[in-house]
Amino acid sequence: MATFIVLLGPPGVGKGTQAKILSEQSGLVHISSGDLFRENIKNQTELGKLAQTYMTKGELVPNDVTIAMIRERLHHPDCKKGAILDGFPRTPAQADALENMLHEFDGHVDVVPFITAAEDILVERLSARWTCRANGHIFNEKFNPEKEAGKCDFDGSELYQRDDDKAETVKRRIDVYLDQTSPLISYYRDHDKLVEIDGMQSIEQVTRDLLNALKN
Ligand code: AP5
Ligand code: MG
Repeated sequence: MATFIVLLGPPGVGKGTQAKILSEQSGLVHISSGDLFRENIKNQTELGKLAQTYMTKGELVPNDVTIAMIRERLHHPDCKKGAILDGFPRTPAQADALENMLHEFDGHVDVVPFITAAEDILVERLSARWTCRANGHIFNEKFNPEKEAGKCDFDGSELYQRDDDKAETVKRRIDVYLDQTSPLISYYRDHDKLVEIDGMQSIEQVTRDLLNALKN
């Protein structure tokens, strides 16, 4: 049976950072819905053009296209053992769709780590985030700087700041999270899957807490 880990938490809390580390340690592939949309935008696909109109405003891309994109991605052979899902599901409709997909892929959601941090910290982190162009590696000029300015430590590619990390768009993304995604907290708590993780700690300590939560 395939194992799926759903990382839940607000924008900037460290889902992508931790998903990359957990992926290396567990061998499960990291699937970020935001990264998939950004790749489509880069390649100027129809999906990318549509997604961009929502993402630049900090709004969610409609459920049907998001679900279809994730289903297609989960069909790839690298998902046979499961995946770490970062940014999906993000609405109750997406969570229901994931439940249905799990039957299709003979998988189950084991644990849903819910990473938390205060809103002012989220804003501070996102305004200082730099992302690598080639593979989405994540840095922070205050909290996790790259070794050589402007260059990814892992693949040497250029670092850039995401369009949606502007202060007013971050504010909107947090509101959208509170409004549309936070109902998933009780959804997964009711299913006995939720484990709360304090995302205000160091990156290393958050990883340790996540690994503990996944072990138990
Ligand atoms: P997405 O790309 O998923 O963005 P998000 O959820 O807003 O989350 P972020 O990527 O901003 O934050 P993160 O939690 O990954 O934090 P990170 O590790 O980078 O989605 C973007 C857009 O795509 C959405 O707005 C929507 O339009 C669309 N979309 C995506 N999925 C969708 C879906 N399912 N349905 C509909 N629409 C969808 O860390 C942030 C910064 O903090 C980094 O600089 C990092 O170095 C630093 N940091 C991390 N951890 C720590 C720590 N412990 N201490 C100090 N600094 C830290
Ligand atoms: Mg992310």
